[in-house]
Amino acid sequence: MKTPRILITEPIPETVIAYLKEFGHVTIGEKGQYNTEQILINELDGYDALLCMLSTPVTKAVLTSATNLKVVANFAVGYNNIDVDTASKLGIKVANTPDVLTEACGDFAMALLMATTRSFYKAERYLRDGKFKGWEPLGFLGMELRGKVLGIVGMGRIGQAFAQRAKAFGMKIMYHNRSQLPPLLERELDCTYISNLEELARQSDVLSLNCPLTQETHHLIDNHIFSNMPTHSILINISRGPVIDEAALAKALHTGEIAGAGLDVFENEPKVHPELLTAPNCTILPHIASATFETREAIGMLAADAIKKVLEGARDKDISNLVTG
Ligand code: GLV
Repeated sequence: MKTPRILITEPIPETVIAYLKEFGHVTIGEKGQYNTEQILINELDGYDALLCMLSTPVTKAVLTSATNLKVVANFAVGYNNIDVDTASKLGIKVANTPDVLTEACGDFAMALLMATTRSFYKAERYLRDGKFKGWEPLGFLGMELRGKVLGIVGMGRIGQAFAQRAKAFGMKIMYHNRSQLPPLLERELDCTYISNLEELARQSDVLSLNCPLTQETHHLIDNHIFSNMPTHSILINISRGPVIDEAALAKALHTGEIAGAGLDVFENEPKVHPELLTAPNCTILPHIASATFETREAIGMLAADAIKKVLEGARDKDISNLVTG
């Protein structure tokens, strides 16, 4: 059999590259090189497998132009950058990386929540700017977590991991989801299902977005939701930027409709809405929730393994991380 050609759109952990090289000819792009549809259309044809990033637009035009392509493995759990319906029609398998990043993202959500409620970055900048002149009884006061309500929108693996951590900090957990969790799991997580999103927004001291980006969740958090959130509340987003109407969020922060936001994702990454950059109490980070050595290697190995299995002709049911439209 001809050695398969594999395109990795940008540098990933060396162990994963070495593994792929055991069975394929590997080409590695440079950071951001394959972030446009046109370059993929120009260069993907002839490759058997694509290992891509969430910033790689694997559109209908890209998929139809790649006549040899058998598998696309996303180096991410979210796969809104891939036209899965078209891939299925063309017989191209699509894989993502569930489970392996759950703990890193759960940790990160907790860290982002604390960084936001306790104004870490604002306070750090204050110190670096030489403004710290001694301990201040009224400096940088923030919301304590014990007894507060964490409202989670999207109670999948990462939402649950965040809930477990927040519980350990004494928070009460409520959630909104496409469907209610089984009673046993609800009891284990000690969480309450709220079927109505506005109601969850009204009851939450912290509202966290942990849902995938779909047509239904696009701009799910808009002016209307902000008008339902308490003025002391905090919004956390580690899911996908377009789940929030960013202009509405900027307005809600500037007018004090809500007290703060912790954001790891943005509507038009890598751009950040200019009014979020100037908003009071807005923690902004460059999409790093899963960024630990261990997790990024595990993500790569899971994606690479799906590529290997597809190229070897494994049955779909023997590849745990294939996704369908
Ligand atoms: C990161 O955002 C991911 O979806 O894995």
